[in-house]
Amino acid sequence: MSRYDWLDPEFAAIEQVGLRRRLRTVMSAPTGTIHLDGHDVVLLGSNNYLGLSTHPEVITAAVEATQTFGTGASGSRLISGNSELYTTLESNLAKTKGTEAALVFSSGYAANTSVIPVLAGEGDLILSDALNHASLIDGCRLSRASKKIYQHCDTGHLRTLLSESTAFRRRLIVTDGVFSMDGDIAPLPDICDLAAQYDAMLLVDDAHGFGVLGKDGRGTVSHFGLEGKEIIQMGTLSKAVGALGGYIAGNRTLIELLINRARGFIFTTGLPPATLAAANAALDVIRSSPELRQNLRSHAKRLKTALIDLGYTLLPSETQILPLVLGNPKRATSLAEALLTEGVFAPAIRPPAVPTGTSRLRLTVMATHTGTEIQQAIEAFATLSEV
Ligand SMILES: Cc1ncc(COP(=O)(O)O)c(C=O)c1O
Repeated sequence: MSRYDWLDPEFAAIEQVGLRRRLRTVMSAPTGTIHLDGHDVVLLGSNNYLGLSTHPEVITAAVEATQTFGTGASGSRLISGNSELYTTLESNLAKTKGTEAALVFSSGYAANTSVIPVLAGEGDLILSDALNHASLIDGCRLSRASKKIYQHCDTGHLRTLLSESTAFRRRLIVTDGVFSMDGDIAPLPDICDLAAQYDAMLLVDDAHGFGVLGKDGRGTVSHFGLEGKEIIQMGTLSKAVGALGGYIAGNRTLIELLINRARGFIFTTGLPPATLAAANAALDVIRSSPELRQNLRSHAKRLKTALIDLGYTLLPSETQILPLVLGNPKRATSLAEALLTEGVFAPAIRPPAVPTGTSRLRLTVMATHTGTEIQQAIEAFATLSEV
């Protein structure tokens, strides 16, 4: 008997319902084709949407920053870990987002779990989309505010909940801009109008829209022309930007308040110089490379059209995220394994990342996929649709 005997049945229960997760080992950079567990496979499961993590200018910036500043920040930002690389990156982000200021966190997860408890607490209400990312959900939990979940992208339901909840001190609406597992875009113009009408704050998580949507890749708020509408914009540097980190862009007082209150900002070490310099260089590439966004859109369209022609059912995504819903987690993992034997890596996404009964393959394309790689992927799906 051991105090840890409970671990075995706990783990067995996960395995039994097809929800066991395993780490795979990638032995190459995240380009269109990767070396995975000993095989070369086309990668349809990366958030490196624009291929910037291997862009030569981004790599050079990271190497030079390491040579100048070393490998680690060596302190939290409020002590000794705040270099000029942060200052440059944050003013670059604020300019890109059209806000007064921006603040970088060590991850998108840290940004969300830090900002929400600063914006809302006991006596406040958070209204959250049913399909929001786990980091937003965890931020809501940490805040100790009351929560109401509105049906996915349902602004009628959001309006009802807002109209029924006037007794709270403050209200905060939180939504993904581009939903991470469904690839659809939140109806931000309507949400923004409701926020103004009901005097609620609005936080948009643009992890998957930044770099991809809007003028010069500025994101979902720009996509809808909503700059200047007092939206607090969160984003990551880990997806289209190809580095690591998260940020909040908003007005200067909010940023100052976060510097003083956000626990995930205060109680952690700053990001490595290489990461900050890479993100900064990537922002320049994003701004000046519309052809990357064009490639991304055209690869997504080509793959989507081909899969639909082959008889696969995809959710109606408008972005580079193409969800092929299979329902049962075991069906999703079997198809993922079969695809792997055909030379394509398309990860199965299962609860709790998605609601029960909606396990899926989350296919994502990259701007830097070649036409041949997209064709290889289509042929693999074609082979499997015949069996
Ligand atoms: C919508 C959304 N928000 C936040 C995050 C967290 O970002 P990061 O990976 O930078 O911690 C993710 C990434 O998984 C995401 O998909």
